Amino acid sequence: MFLDTAPAALWGAGMISMDQRHDSREDAHANPTASNGATGRPAPVRFDATEEESQRIQALAGSSSGSVRLARLLIRQPRLILHAARTALGGASAGLRADHTLSWLIHVDTVRQVIPDGGMGATWGGLETFMGLVEKHVPKTAHALELGCGGGRVTRHIRPLVGTLVANDISERILAEARAATVDLPRVEFRLTHGLGDDLRAEEFDAVIGHELLMQFDFDELLRYCSNVHRALKPGGLFIASVYTFDESGEMARHMEMIRDHGAGVRSPFRVHRMPRRTYQDIFEACGFEIVEVERSRADEYKAQKTPHTNFVLRRAALPTSS
Ligand SMILES: C[S@@+](CC[C@H](N)C(=O)[O-])C[C@H]1O[C@@H](n2cnc3c(N)ncnc32)[C@H](O)[C@@H]1O
Repeated sequence: MFLDTAPAALWGAGMISMDQRHDSREDAHANPTASNGATGRPAPVRFDATEEESQRIQALAGSSSGSVRLARLLIRQPRLILHAARTALGGASAGLRADHTLSWLIHVDTVRQVIPDGGMGATWGGLETFMGLVEKHVPKTAHALELGCGGGRVTRHIRPLVGTLVANDISERILAEARAATVDLPRVEFRLTHGLGDDLRAEEFDAVIGHELLMQFDFDELLRYCSNVHRALKPGGLFIASVYTFDESGEMARHMEMIRDHGAGVRSPFRVHRMPRRTYQDIFEACGFEIVEVERSRADEYKAQKTPHTNFVLRRAALPTSS
């Protein structure tokens, strides 16, 4: 049966060995209730592998990659192909939705359906407190980097406050939006970046500014990203970043209630993390920053109902030594 169903391509690619083709035990595996002996009743499924069988199972499981094992399974059990196809489609669609670039470009497209010359974040607002902190702490002569500049909304505010400005994003298409939105300003150098800031140059900047960026990263990603920002700053340089936190008592409980009633992610089609303020502080400190100031934005700064950002002003300090 196995011989008949294995596609030639898999044979050719060496994904199926001769041993497996002739192993009658595998046919039994494909239909465990088939060997019914004299009674005509299906034999019960066994859950008591011997030591020797356990070892053989482990050896088989470790002998090839997951995708090769999946291919073998589908060949043995073609009824699973429809299930696998549905899973693959679901995964592809979830993957596309989780992609930052496509998410933000979908957002821009939606804005443009109503405002043909509108830019990314036209409905967001919420910059007053954040920009107040930039103006207060960053020297006018600073060589600054804006992380995740998006459509250039915040770039427009930062540019007059610093000496020279580099702005980055992960998408060439998004950077084109930002270039178009800042043509009337003194020069901004736009740089394409990738990943989690691994490409940032050491000790290049006096200040790094990231509005509405870090909330996209989970715990591990944040540790990596913030360590890279620490490396990109000159000693004593500043990192000003907005995140979403749980601060007041009851905030987390209200959030959990909302998730219970409406499902996780209901407020945003994008990946948005929100953690207790203390957790963010711990992460920043672990990456070698000292906390200079923390200020939460006011609810009335926003155009739509939105959780106000918590804005951190951090200074590059010496990296903590592990004891
Ligand atoms: C919510 S938008 C914010 C845009 C802008 N900062 C603002 O507040 O209007 C987040 C931006 O971060 C960018 N981004 C996502 N991952 C990034 C990364 N690893 N490095 C730099 N930018 C990134 C996205 O492409 C998107 O343009």
